[in-house]
Amino acid sequence: MRKLLTGLAAAGIVFSGASAGDVAQQVEKLAKEYGCSGCHAVDKVVAGPPFRIIAREYKGKPNAKETLVKSILGGSMMKWQAKARKYKIKIKMAYMPAQHGVNKEKAEKIVDLILKLDTK
Ligand code: HEC
Repeated sequence: MRKLLTGLAAAGIVFSGASAGDVAQQVEKLAKEYGCSGCHAVDKVVAGPPFRIIAREYKGKPNAKETLVKSILGGSMMKWQAKARKYKIKIKMAYMPAQHGVNKEKAEKIVDLILKLDTK
């Protein structure tokens, strides 16, 4: 048993490796369900910024959750022009329309997950 566990840890599939992947998968799944995936993915630019880069920008900032939930529910405009330059990405739209398909609870759920994405 001990030998097996050591082997699994060495292969990087015990705990940390697996859970980081799970968060990304959960974000992709909710994004699809909530109608975000037409414009967002975890790691690539679709029309808007990738969720992992949003996490990198907001992780650890005060009011990160409130700010992002507000943007999802009310829309967001031109905020990412300068940030896109900072992260060297090219986003394809200057604004996100208010997402009427989600309520506050759903917006909070996906924001919590986005902010949990591994950003290293
Ligand atoms: C029609 C395309 C589109 C859809 C659909 C869309 N987004 Fe966006 N999203 C964008 C764009 C473009 C931006 C950058 C806006 C800006 O520059 O202010 C953005 C920005 C964001 C941000 C960062 C806001 C901030 O304050 O910095 C978050 C978080 C986000 N989107 C989450 C979501 C979620 C969750 C959904 C689904 C419920 C969603 N988006 C659906 C295009 C979209």
